[in-house]
Amino acid sequence: MSTVAVPLILGIESSCDETAAAVVRSGRQVLSNVIASQHELHAKFGGVVPEIASRAHIERMLPVLNETCEQAGVTLDEVDAVAVGNRPGLIGSLLVGVAAAKTLAWSMNKPLIGIDHVVSHLYAGALDAEPIDYPALGLVVSGGHTSLYLARSPLEMKLLGHTIDDAVGEAYDKVAAILEAGFPGGPIIDKLAQQGDAASVKLPRTLLEADSLDFSYSGLKTAVLYHVRGKPVGRGAAATFERSAADLTDVDKQNIAASFQAAAVDVLMIKLQRAWDQLTSADEAPRCVIIGGGVSANSLLRQRIIAFGEEHDIDVRLPKMGYCLDNAAMIAGLAHWRYVAGQFDDLELAAAASSRI
Ligand code: KG4
Ligand code: ZN
Repeated sequence: MSTVAVPLILGIESSCDETAAAVVRSGRQVLSNVIASQHELHAKFGGVVPEIASRAHIERMLPVLNETCEQAGVTLDEVDAVAVGNRPGLIGSLLVGVAAAKTLAWSMNKPLIGIDHVVSHLYAGALDAEPIDYPALGLVVSGGHTSLYLARSPLEMKLLGHTIDDAVGEAYDKVAAILEAGFPGGPIIDKLAQQGDAASVKLPRTLLEADSLDFSYSGLKTAVLYHVRGKPVGRGAAATFERSAADLTDVDKQNIAASFQAAAVDVLMIKLQRAWDQLTSADEAPRCVIIGGGVSANSLLRQRIIAFGEEHDIDVRLPKMGYCLDNAAMIAGLAHWRYVAGQFDDLELAAAASSRI
């Protein structure tokens, strides 16, 4: 076993459609970060199919665990604790990771640490980087979450606002589906957008009440739908549309993607500024801004966040590209803080579909 001063933690992540395992030393030094994505299994359905995801996790878990130990150059015996993302996510998928973590912890007599996946996204910016200076203003932008937090430490989060309908990543995925551009939509729309004209299609920025830190993305997605297909005739599943994505040229798709991306990112930046203003005037000025979740890989958001940091003269933490999307390094890294605080779980640790924060 390694010494307690530099704990070595094995992390496991299986909340959605990535089977991942990582070994992290001292909470920040990533020794390995193995991610087996299942995108090809779900692409033809245009979204993640929970039953397929959980079966694929079962097949991939042991090879991924072996690979991560091999890449890190450690044996399971050298690991000080086993951490697992146990919430939130698809329950059947979470159960696979939780069962694997419990089995390893029990059979090797190591502490078990359950980690909230959403909180861990806000730790990704500390991996292979300097320690984060708290309190921090945190923005999680993923396929399931769009939330602002005041982070007082790596583990203590106060929710400031969240989406009342679609998450921003979900809006990217739905817009890609409307454009019949592929799955997952985020990277595809990001790429198309870089060739398009963001001023070409007028799309709404839903900001809710003047002081609201909540988000709403369903209106933007519907505006794209109507722009592409025209207004529906009839309601619900029986609705028919005047046009389809097949009527669009490549340039049309690029322009729609660019206009959508500009609107989606504008809303994130306006809400981030609002949260900043509210915290600062309440004497809770953050010392750092941390962004996490799959959409933190977005090229426009990254540029705008860097500019925000320069404008406010504040440290902004964008995760390195390998730590933006779902991964286990963020699970193992965050678990360090529970490990040093002696906060362990027992074998009753449950998988849960929703976050506690
Ligand atoms: O954090 P994540 O891997 O999984 C969840 O916890 O949900 O985020 C996945 C989301 C997907 O909706 C995906 O389309 C989006 O992140 N995403 C992006 C980009 N790369 C991934 N969205 C915008 N731009 C990107 N470059
Ligand atoms: Zn995630």
